[in-house]
Amino acid sequence: MIRLIKSTFYKEQKVKAELIEFITSASKLSMGSECFKFEDNFSKFQGRRFTCFVNSGSSANLLLLQSLLNLGKIKKGDTVAFSSLTWSTNVMPIIQLGLKPVPIDVSITNLNVTSENLISSFNENPFKVFFITNLLGFCADLDKIKQFCDERNVMLLEDNCESLGSELRNEKLGNFGLASTSSFFVGHHLSTIEGGAVSTNDEELSRMLKITRAHGWSRNISNEERNVLAKKNKIDSFYDDYSFYELGFNFRPNEISGFIGNHQLLYLSEIVDLRERTFKLFHQASCQNKNLITLDVKHLSTISNFAFPMIFESKSAFIKYRDAFLKNKVEIRPIVGGDITQQPFFKKTNDKKYKMKNANIIHDKGFYIPNNPELTKEEIETLANLISSDI
Ligand SMILES: Cc1ncc(COP(=O)(O)O)c(C=O)c1O
Repeated sequence: MIRLIKSTFYKEQKVKAELIEFITSASKLSMGSECFKFEDNFSKFQGRRFTCFVNSGSSANLLLLQSLLNLGKIKKGDTVAFSSLTWSTNVMPIIQLGLKPVPIDVSITNLNVTSENLISSFNENPFKVFFITNLLGFCADLDKIKQFCDERNVMLLEDNCESLGSELRNEKLGNFGLASTSSFFVGHHLSTIEGGAVSTNDEELSRMLKITRAHGWSRNISNEERNVLAKKNKIDSFYDDYSFYELGFNFRPNEISGFIGNHQLLYLSEIVDLRERTFKLFHQASCQNKNLITLDVKHLSTISNFAFPMIFESKSAFIKYRDAFLKNKVEIRPIVGGDITQQPFFKKTNDKKYKMKNANIIHDKGFYIPNNPELTKEEIETLANLISSDI
């Protein structure tokens, strides 16, 4: 079987051996110095000033929106646009926090929202926030999207859980909006088993993320900032550690995840290179197959592909190739969460019917196949042959 995910994290045996030593000698395994070191290291990789490390990408999305509510930058009832082709927990926090979700259709050739789609959706029904998803290591014209959002005062947030390391004209995805989220779940570019993060350049938001991540208390911000909060709220020293200033969660990571994250970061550039190299081979192979809609992602300067998507011109071709991949023992799956507006939870919580033309085609006639950094040369060859084959 050619698996979508081959290990818990990259260089699993070596890192596990180091992890055993770390666990044996560590005096503390709850959030501590390894986590904080990872936050600094990750910020450096991403090219952002601040990172708030949490226990999953889903938590990161919920944390980001709750922190913006806490700051009063958004308020309940505000409309939040999202990419119709995404993962459930990009959209669920919007609904859970009393915001109004507005789906935007994606491009059939890069699977992401384009500025054209964004503008026509905005003109029809203006929104306050756009929580875009950078899907599968791709984006559309994210620079134009940013420009439009800046001009129209739309807050741009990026769910970058699937695109760590990708670059549009040498700018890392995840650095176009006010903040971006990452997932470090198994199978993502960087795995800490479970994990996620919010990265931003905004100091006020960074402070609020740290308060909201852990119980709404002030313990994880600087002493100076803590004193300001305590004074403003007339908190005495006895209650200093037990004052809860904001609506919060407990999304803290632990030292095991922090340690793994710091070690995985050493390999991240290698992982991105390998994913890009395999993507290019698969893309070449796909250009030879007339049954496939050709991906157009040449605007990206680095393609840190998450998995390779195949979208078919017809349902019959989709069925033929799906069955052939399965028969050849290749693990495949629907493209991320498919058209989210077709998912039961979305229908249950939204009365309005949406027609997402392209997301619908991708939902109905697409699947994705493995692209991970541990595929062997033979596996890559088998997959490339299947992609280009005339069945
Ligand atoms: C686009 C996107 N957002 C959010 C998530 C959630 O991340 P996690 O599994 O770490 O909760 C995922 C997970 O795959 C994802 O693909």
